[in-house]
Amino acid sequence: MDAHSTTYWYESREEQDTYRLAKELARFFIPGSVIGLDGDLGAGKTTFSKAVGQALEVQETVNSPTFTIIKEYEGRTMPFYHMDVYRISQEEAEDIGLDDYFYGDGVTLVEWASIIRDLIPEEHLSVYIENTGWTERRFRLAPVGAVYKKWCSDLKEQGIIHDERQES
Ligand SMILES: Nc1ncnc2c1ncn2[C@@H]1O[C@H](COP(=O)(O)OP(=O)(O)OP(=O)(O)O)[C@@H](O)[C@H]1O
Ligand SMILES: [Mg+2]
Repeated sequence: MDAHSTTYWYESREEQDTYRLAKELARFFIPGSVIGLDGDLGAGKTTFSKAVGQALEVQETVNSPTFTIIKEYEGRTMPFYHMDVYRISQEEAEDIGLDDYFYGDGVTLVEWASIIRDLIPEEHLSVYIENTGWTERRFRLAPVGAVYKKWCSDLKEQGIIHDERQES
């Protein structure tokens, strides 16, 4: 990873704030967008994924794909590919052909992305969710690649996310 890239943070005080972040990010989505999610058990990875589904106007219920590894949903403007790779094996990862999703015509969101770090496109938005209270969650956004850096710098200019320097 680029040692000089800025990381950003977003403070979610309640679940609704998590839905808001997904909605703000969704404005930038194009086919082939990739978001990698990490964080503790129960931090809110699946909740954030549901929020992304809502932002993409997916009509079906977005559930955790822990046992299926990947679920495909039809969004209004593009498909939503939701992965949970917690239980994936290297063999399985290769068999599934993850690249067909990553470089396909939809948005891919990967829960436990760090497990398949080597298989994820280098350019993506890495999101780490930290449990900071009963309903409080801190999102750390680390963009890799010019496209994702632009997403973040735009959101920062709009006052939605903050860079580390503003942290007090
Ligand atoms: N601000 C918040 N943002 C997101 N989720 C929140 C927030 N406050 C409370 N929650 C709750 O935290 C829980 C998060 O669970 P979720 O299944 O999304 O976590 P997860 O990271 O996917 O866990 P796992 O690693 O077990 O899959 C949900 O019950 C959700 O309602
Ligand atoms: Mg989950």
